[in-house]
Amino acid sequence: MGKAVLVIDKGGRGNAIAYAFAKSPQVSRVYVTPGNAGSSILEKCHQLPLFAESVDEEIEAMKKYALENNIDLSFVGPEGYLSAGIVDVFLDADLDIVGPSQMATVLESSKCDTKDFLKKIGVPIPEHKNFDNPDEAKEYVKDFYSDNPNENLVVKADGLAAGKGSIPCDSKADTLSTVDELMILKKFGDAGIRVDLERRLYGEELMFFVFTDGKTVKALEGAQDYKRAFDDNDKVNPRSFDGKNPNTGGMGGYSPHPWLDEELTEKVMKQIALPTITRIQDYESTQFGKLNGVEYKGIIYFGLMICKEGDQKNPYVLEINVRMGDPEAQVILPRLKTDFYDISRAIVDGKLNEIHFEWDPTYQLCACAVSGRIGRYEGYPGKHHTNQEIHGLDEVDNNCLVFHNGTAFDEDGQIYTTGGRVLTVVGTGNNLEEARIHTYDNLKKIRFRGMRYRRDIGKIL
Ligand code: GLY
Repeated sequence: MGKAVLVIDKGGRGNAIAYAFAKSPQVSRVYVTPGNAGSSILEKCHQLPLFAESVDEEIEAMKKYALENNIDLSFVGPEGYLSAGIVDVFLDADLDIVGPSQMATVLESSKCDTKDFLKKIGVPIPEHKNFDNPDEAKEYVKDFYSDNPNENLVVKADGLAAGKGSIPCDSKADTLSTVDELMILKKFGDAGIRVDLERRLYGEELMFFVFTDGKTVKALEGAQDYKRAFDDNDKVNPRSFDGKNPNTGGMGGYSPHPWLDEELTEKVMKQIALPTITRIQDYESTQFGKLNGVEYKGIIYFGLMICKEGDQKNPYVLEINVRMGDPEAQVILPRLKTDFYDISRAIVDGKLNEIHFEWDPTYQLCACAVSGRIGRYEGYPGKHHTNQEIHGLDEVDNNCLVFHNGTAFDEDGQIYTTGGRVLTVVGTGNNLEEARIHTYDNLKKIRFRGMRYRRDIGKIL
């Protein structure tokens, strides 16, 4: 009997992680919890719908399952379970698990403390200041705009806000009303009690992923992401989203990345990734105090702005996430040739230095099919309908993979939609254009009421 793995995630990233484990000849069973319909369709994989009233109860149920079913290794996708301490609970029960401890997740769960930490250890960040008093924050905004009339600020909620807590502003009035929305109207609840105000940088955004066992840090191949809901050249219906093209969790992407070269990778590793991981014990956390004895193990996803300064491309950290991106995982992991079970084991055992990462040179390009406008609901990322039957999944060909984000089976075995992002369709090709054609040819075969996707992923404009 081969190894049994538990993947903890309910979205498309979880499907991609399960797919990566299932490719390992050492692995015979992959359980995905809470999972979705797609988790049961992948070879060797099974959905384990361990839903409970609270995250803590879900974590207890997952631990119990892992203990009772001789799970060899668990792997956590989203930040919610990590911040709730799933890794500590599993380790206390002597269960092997990939992910950072609860204390180490402050890198994502406190934007304010993390910016102070990065500044202290010399990692490049935009000029910033933290506030827990809205009047003082607004005074700072006024002073900033009178000193810098041609610049702008970004307002960041300190806590977790489902990826929506970072708001780039375009004017003083915009910044002042954003401070009110977060700190007084509590748009993101307690996550906005404290805010980080940052000078807005302009350049090219880069998502940079590493795996680490706390000592060795290995960069993954990059992916280009597409955050806006609609095509760059589309006119957004003025009655939706205030006529703006809103940010989403991600509408598509492709790998390899078009301009992340070896030189920039080395620079990001040396200036950002290595110091962040090796100096985590210098972190002063409002919640936990000094992170003495803490080691960061797992994945880190750095959200960077690459600014052209003279003839240099310089990276600045905008945010840190303690997980892989969705849908970035769906295009990066299918290109990984190294055994994913070996990598995960090495992270747990502190032996990542023994692993050599090999990548398939082919292109993977994905577009997310989302729940779009139906009637008065404007669609993802706004209000959207679910419970729509999905058709055509059995018509897709071998040039693509379909990972599920928000789906479930009904009692007749029919798959229906359960979320805003529904499916990630990943086409493969020897070049970007071929991968693009495979993605879009297959997307045309899939149907559900209200289905919408961006048509410009990977399009060279
Ligand atoms: N795709 C962006 C994220 O996972 O946060």
